[in-house]
Amino acid sequence: MKHERQMALLDRMLELRGRSEDQQIYDTVLRLSVDAYTSQEIFERELDTLFSGSPLVAGHVDSVREPGSYMLSDWTRQPYFVVRGEDGVLRAFLNTCRHRGAPLIVREKDEPLRALVCPFHGWTYGLDGALRGIPRSSAFPCIDKRDYGLKACSAAESAGLVWVHPTRHESFDPAQELGAFAEDIAEFRLERYVSYKRVVTEKKANWKLLVQINLEGYHVAHLHKGTLAPNFREGFLSHDAEGPHLRVMAAQTNLPDAENVPEKQRKLIDFVTLFYVLFPNTIVIVRNDTILISRFLPLAPDRTLCSQELLYLPDKYVGESGRKALRNRLLYAEVTMDDEDYMMAERIQANLLNGVNETHMLGLEEGLVMVFQEIVSKRLAARDATTAGNP
Ligand code: FES
Ligand SMILES: [Fe+2]
Repeated sequence: MKHERQMALLDRMLELRGRSEDQQIYDTVLRLSVDAYTSQEIFERELDTLFSGSPLVAGHVDSVREPGSYMLSDWTRQPYFVVRGEDGVLRAFLNTCRHRGAPLIVREKDEPLRALVCPFHGWTYGLDGALRGIPRSSAFPCIDKRDYGLKACSAAESAGLVWVHPTRHESFDPAQELGAFAEDIAEFRLERYVSYKRVVTEKKANWKLLVQINLEGYHVAHLHKGTLAPNFREGFLSHDAEGPHLRVMAAQTNLPDAENVPEKQRKLIDFVTLFYVLFPNTIVIVRNDTILISRFLPLAPDRTLCSQELLYLPDKYVGESGRKALRNRLLYAEVTMDDEDYMMAERIQANLLNGVNETHMLGLEEGLVMVFQEIVSKRLAARDATTAGNP
């Protein structure tokens, strides 16, 4: 992010301090129907509209830098993989053999691929998806191999992130998707970071509950009282939207110190926690020397795969002390997110079944939760309108 923009955002945060009414997005208490978290029908429409109909972040480019390196979609509902070809081109394919449908890659390994060999009968595909070989091919006398290449979906990389459009084949430009945030994110040069670890766990909660728990600071003093709370005494959030995407800033306790740092040396992320919600399901937290990419992959209204990857700047984490610091960083993220935020989301999800609350109440400090919900609802409504217009 450009220095001038960082300073403008920092000024905004400093001005907002203590003026709680200016931080409110809505001027009234809101109610959010819990159907959003339980309805199978809404869930199916979300999958159809939000997850199949637009590009999604597939991960960080560090996993696919070299020819033959690849990343497997963590998501069983959209099983694809992204692979870097010998020609340097990044491609995505559905992870399904064209013979009898076996998955070509079952789990990620460290060695780069030279070809894709189906584990069932050994059909072999090039990294460009072309069917190259059929064992005992005389058993398939009428097959033209050119017709049985892997099914491609479109992949693109931009500013260190890899995006996949799971159902389209035309190319797309992630920077265009991100509008003004594209330049913002590009300035952070996320491509310099390398992966420390990716952890995938299943959470028993709706995907939106997991996203939305990151969108209010009201819970920090209480739920995170033994962990994050001392760092967020200022507590408030401020956000900007770019299309459906959000940039969110959470004021850290040291925010007032920003005024004592000469402007040239001031950095936004020294005083606020900055993250992007890349619609619909990815959160990228940008810190000084690490980034954390969380992706929420819906399995059912009450089940979501949560993929979290910690990346770091290699020159800032050197040797055993660097490894130790990274271990601690990941542990801290696991404690504050998995054991506190996402555990709470699971408990709330379980409680939805008892029918006590037909709606969840959102106070004046929780407006961003509704902002996200409205983005989702508007997308679903727009899709419904289009479908109604095209019987
Ligand atoms: S299913 Fe892949 S070779 Fe038979
Ligand atoms: Fe939290």
